[in-house]
Amino acid sequence: MRKKIIAANWKMNMTVAETVSYLESFRTNVEAVNGVEIVIAPPFTAIAKLSELLGGSQKISLGAQNMYFEMSGAFTGEISPAMLRELFVRFVILGHSERRQIFGETDALINKKVHTALACGLKPIVCVGETLEERDAGRETEILTTQLRGSLAGVPAEKISSIVIAYEPVWAIGTGRNATPEQAQDAHAHVRKVLAEISDAETANKVRIQYGGSVKPANAAVLLSQPDIDGALVGGASLEAHGFSEIVKAAVGK
Ligand code: PGA
Repeated sequence: MRKKIIAANWKMNMTVAETVSYLESFRTNVEAVNGVEIVIAPPFTAIAKLSELLGGSQKISLGAQNMYFEMSGAFTGEISPAMLRELFVRFVILGHSERRQIFGETDALINKKVHTALACGLKPIVCVGETLEERDAGRETEILTTQLRGSLAGVPAEKISSIVIAYEPVWAIGTGRNATPEQAQDAHAHVRKVLAEISDAETANKVRIQYGGSVKPANAAVLLSQPDIDGALVGGASLEAHGFSEIVKAAVGK
C-alpha cells in the first residue's frame, strides 16, 4: 500500500507573516487527519519560519520548490541542499514545468539535482508532464518517457522508491482545466511502466505518483481514487488553508 502524499506548492506566494497565520488554521483543520503524508513547499524566505513552527512535525513535512546541485560556492542566487537540510526540509520539488519553461531547466540539469538531493537525504518530487501542443499531437507518453529517463538517469533502483513523481500536464496548471480522471490514470500508469523499465516492477509499485494541475477540493476525491494516483501536487488551491485541508481529507476519504 502506498501512503498518499498531498503537497502544497506555494510558488512565489506567501510572506512570512502570511505563513504564520496559514499554519495556525491549517494545523487545526488537519488535527484529526491521519494516514496521509502532507508536505508544504513555501518560498525559500518562509522556510526557516515554517521549520521553526513545525518543530520536526511527523504529520506535516517541509518541502522546497527548487535547489542547486552544488553544496556551496559562487552560485549567486542559488540555494544548496545543505542549507535545506539544516532547516529540516525533507522534500524538494525538482523540474517543475515553470522551472523548465520559464527558467530553461533541462532533464540533464534536473538529473544532477536529483542525484545531489538523494545523496543529501532529500526526497525529490520530480515533475513531468506534456504541453497542450504535445498532447494534441498524441505525443504525451513519448514526452513522459523522455523526461523520466532523462531526469532519473543513473539513479539506482534502491533509490528510485524514495522518489515521488508528479505528473503535471502543463495545460492543466493554473488553468482551471484539469485532466479527466481517466486521462490522469492513463498517464500515471505509463509513468509506472517507465519506472519499472528503469528499475523493476516491485520498485515501481512502491513509487508514489502525484497528479498536479488545477486540483481543488471539488475534484480531488475522484482523482485520488484512481489506482495509480497516489497524491496531489497543489498550486493555487493550496494557498488557502481550509481548501488545502479539504484536499488532504479527500486523500483519506474523510
Ligand atoms: P495549480 O498548480 O494547482 O495551480 O494548477 C499545480 C502546480 O503547478 O504544481
